[in-house]
Amino acid sequence: MLLDNNRRNPSAILPSEITPQAVFEQRREVLKLAGAAAASALTGLSLPAQAATAGSLSFAKTAYGKEETLTSLQDVTSYNNYYEFGTGKEDPAREAVLFKPTPWTINIEGAVKQAKSISIEQLLKLAPLEERIYRMRCVEGWSMVIPWIGLPLKALIDWAQPTGNAKYIEFISYNDPRHMPGARIPVLDWPYIEGLRMDEAMQPLTLLAVGLYGQVLPNQNGAPVRLVVPWKYGFKGAKAISTIRFVEKMPNTTWMKASPREYGFYANVNPQVDHPRWTQSSEKRIGAGLFAGRVKTKLFNGYDEVAGLYAGMDLKKFF
Ligand code: MTE
Repeated sequence: MLLDNNRRNPSAILPSEITPQAVFEQRREVLKLAGAAAASALTGLSLPAQAATAGSLSFAKTAYGKEETLTSLQDVTSYNNYYEFGTGKEDPAREAVLFKPTPWTINIEGAVKQAKSISIEQLLKLAPLEERIYRMRCVEGWSMVIPWIGLPLKALIDWAQPTGNAKYIEFISYNDPRHMPGARIPVLDWPYIEGLRMDEAMQPLTLLAVGLYGQVLPNQNGAPVRLVVPWKYGFKGAKAISTIRFVEKMPNTTWMKASPREYGFYANVNPQVDHPRWTQSSEKRIGAGLFAGRVKTKLFNGYDEVAGLYAGMDLKKFF
């Protein structure tokens, strides 16, 4: 729980107007679409058409994190934070089953040459998809290692053509109380909003993920597209992004609004700066077993290449 227990979400109701079979058929369509678009984006590495229709994405393997021990697919897809589908860790896997992440477009607005939108199919053509294994650290004190599939956010920024006034980017998650039972409850100020400074957004590690473990992104992990910033706490990774807004001022993000004392804009993983309720000096690897000790947390989650972004900044003040 990122929120205090006394603000717990009462159990939510599942929308039941769609039959499971209809959902299954829709899901097959998404897989086909995503697979086909990815295949056309990657000449040479494309999978045959049958593979695309079976739900695989075409992607290039990279060296990122290849020495890491992966968290199981089961844990990655059943222990989630996604408050639009409930505040319990097991709620999103159950409550997001009927969510339909297709068709999907992302609105691009704010300080850009021209406001426009981009479909997932177009997005997948902006850059070859890559698999990157990233360590993910949650502010609650646990961590996972996830083989994401995605493209650098920079590819979308280049396409969006921001103007000189763009100093930050705001990521706004899709919000529809009809299909998201958690979004009917004012447990957070909806829609879910996150943000990055422009140079953080352009950093090559910053990913727009469309898949994991070789498959299109499961709904509970933020289908069809979510942000992944491995040197920051997991809450920066906005799920089901529907709008990307380029702005001049630092965005007021959802967690900053919920509890400014507990959640800062930067949210860089930092063992020296404790959260009021959880130590940040060590973490528990999900799935590592009952007797596995806690792992020491590293500054920037061990992604030292980002240190230059914060040169001269007091990281205790700008937490
Ligand atoms: N995005 C939206 N839209 N809503 C959320 O509640 N939770 C965040 C982040 N993105 C959240 C979200 C938090 S607190 C975390 S730790 C990560 O998603 C969890 O991602 P995962 O479930 O894929 O591990």
